[in-house]
Amino acid sequence: MNKVKLGVLVSGRGSNLQAIIDNIEKGSLSAEIAVVISDQADAFSLERARKHNIPAVHISAKGYKGKRDEYDGLLVEELRKRGVELVILAGFMRIITPTLIKAFPYRIMNIHPALLPSFPGLHVQKAAIEHGVRFSGCTVHFGDEGMDTGPIIIQAVVPVLDNDTEDTLSSRILAQEHKIFSRAIQLYAEGRLTIKGRRVVVTGSEDKGGQFLINP
Ligand code: GRF
Repeated sequence: MNKVKLGVLVSGRGSNLQAIIDNIEKGSLSAEIAVVISDQADAFSLERARKHNIPAVHISAKGYKGKRDEYDGLLVEELRKRGVELVILAGFMRIITPTLIKAFPYRIMNIHPALLPSFPGLHVQKAAIEHGVRFSGCTVHFGDEGMDTGPIIIQAVVPVLDNDTEDTLSSRILAQEHKIFSRAIQLYAEGRLTIKGRRVVVTGSEDKGGQFLINP
């Protein structure tokens, strides 16, 4: 099978990036990472990439306040230069603009630590606990112009326990993020994702496609 060429955009610690690297190295993900790009010079993600001989690039957002489109133009340039086919937002803490979205239509994936469309935005594990939901989880979706609004590819459900803190819930959700992000990329690599309206249909599915139910 062809290896899908990934460009991974990051801002921080990069545990999702690491899970993707590990799955590629294990042979369970038919992909290769062409470049990791960070908007933060000191992101630990860049070190993770370098350790695995993956090109790691810092593109500073300094001087681009109010010019998000122009900044995204720099990203598009770098991603194209590296021959990237699928853009992975793995903890990239910037809102993306039409410049990036139009350059990679339905070829941008984001991971979000809640069951969208509930709890978009930031600090969502805390918000889920405070709201009193019994289940939260994580979502892999295509990037669009809204905040966490694009078509949903895969979700994993994680129970919220009575004694959960933001940290304990976040780490249980994160363990599922590490599984479903690679799974979504693999479905893309296998050509099994079709968009119908705002629904993503997983074709040729003997397994559960986009549905992951996780027991406590
Ligand atoms: C994850 O919780 C992800 O869902 C969110 O940002 C966090 C990134 O974590 N978008 P990491 O950098 O992959 O460890």
